[in-house]
Amino acid sequence: MKPVPSKNGNRLLADELTYELRTIPPSAGRQELVPRKSCAMGDWHAASNTPFHVAKCHTLYVDKLILAPMVRVGRLPMRLLALQKGADLVYTEETIDYKLEKCVRTVNETLGTVEYVHNSEVVFQTCGREKNNVILQLGTSNPLRAVKAAQLVSKDVAGIDVNMGCPKHFSVSGGMGSSLLTKPDLVKEILTSLVRNVTLPITCKIRLLPTIAETVTLAQLIEGTGVAAVAVHGRFVTERPREPVHYDYIKAVADSVRIPVIANGASLDIAVYDDIAAVKQKTGCASVMLARAAQWNPSIFSFGKTTANPLDNAREYIKLALQYGQDLGNIKFNLQHLLHFAPDKILKGKLSSAANSQELCELFGLPVHYKEDSRCGLQSLYTTLDSHLFELCRRGYRINILEVPFDRKSLRRANISPKFLLWEYSQKQSLAWPEKPKYCTLYDNLLRKFFTLLSFKGEFYTSGGYYSNKKTSEQAAALASLKLLNVDLPYELYNVNSSL
Ligand code: FNR
Repeated sequence: MKPVPSKNGNRLLADELTYELRTIPPSAGRQELVPRKSCAMGDWHAASNTPFHVAKCHTLYVDKLILAPMVRVGRLPMRLLALQKGADLVYTEETIDYKLEKCVRTVNETLGTVEYVHNSEVVFQTCGREKNNVILQLGTSNPLRAVKAAQLVSKDVAGIDVNMGCPKHFSVSGGMGSSLLTKPDLVKEILTSLVRNVTLPITCKIRLLPTIAETVTLAQLIEGTGVAAVAVHGRFVTERPREPVHYDYIKAVADSVRIPVIANGASLDIAVYDDIAAVKQKTGCASVMLARAAQWNPSIFSFGKTTANPLDNAREYIKLALQYGQDLGNIKFNLQHLLHFAPDKILKGKLSSAANSQELCELFGLPVHYKEDSRCGLQSLYTTLDSHLFELCRRGYRINILEVPFDRKSLRRANISPKFLLWEYSQKQSLAWPEKPKYCTLYDNLLRKFFTLLSFKGEFYTSGGYYSNKKTSEQAAALASLKLLNVDLPYELYNVNSSL
């Protein structure tokens, strides 16, 4: 057996680890004990006797510049921008396991993306370009849920990270994020389950415990689960982001484990690319992870760049954000931060008044990309729209539009749905089948909303509105048609003025 030296004097035996995996009985219904067979980086685990996590040490997390996980920031466009600028790995925003677990994987042909969708909400969006560089960060407090969520996305990402540092109320009250730091048994269970059942490198991101000794003990426990690396945000749970980072704690962790340690928390000390190397040196870490420094200036990852060009960064971000259908609110949020170093404060001020992507592009001198954006939207509309109805529309059939402010709560109030009422109405008319109500609902990939066109008695009806739910969209179209057909109903129950 070949001993693997450890910096803290512990000796980890390579063959012992392999043996541990081999002696585990084949599944026998116990999902959590299935040994790993291959991984996203190629089947090097099977090809050598080197334990899985030792081999990983030499690949994915060593000497890497990393975009940190950031809620609302770490979505596809910003991740792609960071990669374009020189980042090696990009973390997603924290994605909660129970949300991801319910998603359906769909291929969005129009955008060229893979999307994990639940109730028409895109929970995770990715594309081939980042497949070998994207690490999905999970928010979890439950080993089985974490495994299910990780397995679901495993063919689209390069690694899985567990958030063990977030101090926000939402995370802590759900037993996730920094609340895990004081639950070593649960930490062990979550990470071990992931390592054993997911064919990807597993990592976690922690904050500091009150003393160096406690932090090191936690890091060693984490190492013992077989993870590929650990990221250390060098602040206590109670500390604010503006407070100085504790390099001594990060260094102590790096000195006491053999897996790669990723230094995080140093953004306020990083103004230019070369500062990143200084952090790596100071902490003895294998890699450095940046959040705010990259949020303000993704070019920080670019070798040789000394100054940020906020406007260039912003323009590149807008192109990607529109290409991948980000919503305007999120685009503006990210632009506010990308303009952090911009001398022109007026532009930042004007941002909030941009009402749509066209105005946004005009503000940044990018008219062309708005056109690309709208072409993309039309394309998705045409491909989704029922071809028969589309052809009728194209030939100039009349479309009756009545804007009704439909909301689902009114269904409970009225106790009967507009779709049912329309069906009942059509029954009374003894209509031939082609004249009966027919709903054509399309999903707009850019707006991420549904739009319904209803054909009835040879005419077309719509509420003209886009809805985030397919059923609601159809109910709204039915309601609009009933009103336009002057069917006598108590429309007030649906918040529609009878005198409209
Ligand atoms: C964060 N951070 C964070 N951390 C995490 O593990 N998961 C997350 O989803 C988020 N979300 C998030 C959003 C935003 C807007 C910011 C600024 C930060 C924390 C982040 O990853 C990092 O640990 C800290 O910001 C410290 O690193 P920097 O900023 O000094 O490089």
